[in-house]
Amino acid sequence: MPHNIAVLGSTGSIGTQTLDVISQFPDRFKATVLAAGSNVDMLVAQAVKHRPALAVIADTSRYAELRDALAPLGIETAAGPEALADAMERPDFDTAVTATVGYSGLLPTVRAIRAGKQIALANKETLVVAGELITRLLADSLPAITAETDKHEGYHLHYAVKACANPKVLRQIQQAGFGADCVSGGEIKACLEAGFPAHEIVFAGVGKADWEIELGLAAGIQYFNVESIPELEVINEIAARMGKVADVSFRINPNVGAHTHANITTGLAENKFGIAMEDMERVVRLAQQMQNVRFVGLHFHIGSQILEMNDFEALSSRVNELQDRLEAAGITEVKNINVGGGLGIDYHNPDGNPVPDFHAYFETYANCLQLRPGQQLHFELGRAVVGQCGSLITRCLYVKKATAKQFVIVDAGMTDLIRPALYDAYHHIQNLSSTADEELYDIVGPICESSDVFAKDYRMPATKRGDLIALRSAGAYGEIMASRYNGRAVPVAFTTDALN
Ligand SMILES: Cc1ncc(COP(=O)(O)O)c(C=O)c1O
Repeated sequence: MPHNIAVLGSTGSIGTQTLDVISQFPDRFKATVLAAGSNVDMLVAQAVKHRPALAVIADTSRYAELRDALAPLGIETAAGPEALADAMERPDFDTAVTATVGYSGLLPTVRAIRAGKQIALANKETLVVAGELITRLLADSLPAITAETDKHEGYHLHYAVKACANPKVLRQIQQAGFGADCVSGGEIKACLEAGFPAHEIVFAGVGKADWEIELGLAAGIQYFNVESIPELEVINEIAARMGKVADVSFRINPNVGAHTHANITTGLAENKFGIAMEDMERVVRLAQQMQNVRFVGLHFHIGSQILEMNDFEALSSRVNELQDRLEAAGITEVKNINVGGGLGIDYHNPDGNPVPDFHAYFETYANCLQLRPGQQLHFELGRAVVGQCGSLITRCLYVKKATAKQFVIVDAGMTDLIRPALYDAYHHIQNLSSTADEELYDIVGPICESSDVFAKDYRMPATKRGDLIALRSAGAYGEIMASRYNGRAVPVAFTTDALN
C-alpha cells in the first residue's frame, strides 16, 4: 500500500517540488489531499496529474471553478480551511506535508497532529503564529472592549502598538474603531499605513527625535505625550518652524507602584518616565506661555501585566488629587486624562481565560476616577488586546538527558520570544504532537546565552525530536521584540485568512 500524503500549499514552489518527488515513487507514495490558497488553475492541473482523493481550495470564492473542473474526473473537492482540517482527520492518509505559509495550512496541520498523523514541515523551521486563537481577537476581545467603553461617556481606547504591530492585526484593530498609541516614528508610519486616521494617534516616549516630532506634526496626530521640559521646548520650536500648533499632554510620573515585574514598572519616582508630580503646575504654565503648543491633558502609565485592580484604583486616586491641585492653581483646560495601559492577561490559563476582565478594568476607573464635565478618558491597552491571540510554534530539535535534568531543546529561542529571558515571564507550553505520560523538562532554545530558557522543571508529555511545541500567549511583545542575534532570521508571522 502506498503511503498517503496530504500536501498543504501544493501550488507553491515547495508544494510543487513535494508533489514532483511523490510522483517519482508511485509504488511507495500517493497524494491523497491537495490544497492550495487561490491558484485554481494550477490546483486543477495538479489534481489531474496526481489524482488525489480530495482537492481543497482555501479561497471559497473560487470553489465553483475547481468543482466544475474536477467533478467529471471523479475527484472530490472542498473549500476553506475548515474543510481541509476535517480532511486531516480522515483515516486514508498518513502524513501531512505543510508547505504553506498561511493559516489555511496551520489549522489543518494542528488537526492532523491531533489526529496522530505524521507531519513534515516543508518550509519553515520556526513559525510564529497569530493563528488558531486570532479568531478570539476578532470575535471576542475587540467587541468585549467596545462593549465596555461604550457604557461610559467619553472613554476611548488607543491601542498600544508596541504590543504587536503586525499590519493585519493593526488593520483589524483600526476597523474595530480604536485609535493608536505610538512610541516611535516607525509606529506612527505603520499606523498611518494601516489606516488609522492621524487625529486618533497619540505619541509617547521619553526620547522623541526631531524627525519623529516633525512626522507627528506633519501628519496631524491627536497629541504628544510630553515627558520633559527640554522635549516641550523642542516641540514648540519645531512646531513654530512648521507653522503649526502642537497639542500636548504631560506624562506625569504618579509614583504609584504596580504589582508586576520590576522591569515593567514605569510609574515610580525612580523610573525614567514622565515629569515629577511636583513640577506639574510649572510645566503646564510653561506650555501656556508658548506660542506653538497647546496644553490638552495629562498622561499616566504605571506598568504592564497588572492583574490587581487596586493598582488602577491607586492611580485613579492620584489623578483625582492632581486634578484638584490643578484646579486650585486655576488650571481648568484639562481636556483629556490618559491613564495608559497595563491590564494583564492569564498566561497560566490561556484557554480558560482567553479574554481579560475588561469589565472589571473599566468599572474600576468608572468608580474611582472623577472625570470633570466634558473630560475624555483615554486608555492605551496593548497586551490585553492581543496577548492571547498568538502562539509561538516551534519544533523539538533534541531531547538531552543531563546528570540532573532533561532538556527539550527547541528551534525557537529568546530571539523569537524574549519575555521569559527578559522578564522571567511564564508562558504555557504545550506539546502538540504527543499525548504520552508527562515528564519533567527544562525547555530551552538554541541561543548561546544561559538565559535562553523558556521554562524550568516543566511538566509536558514525553517529548521527542520533531515534536511541535506551542508557547501560548505570545501575541503581545512576541514577534515585535524578535531580534537577529546569533545571526538568526526573524520569525515569520502567520495570521488567519480572515485577516487577509
Ligand atoms: C506609555 C505606554 N502606554 C501603554 C503601554 C501598553 O501597556 P500594556 O501592553 O501593558 O497594556 C505601555 C507599555 O509599555 C506604555 O509604555
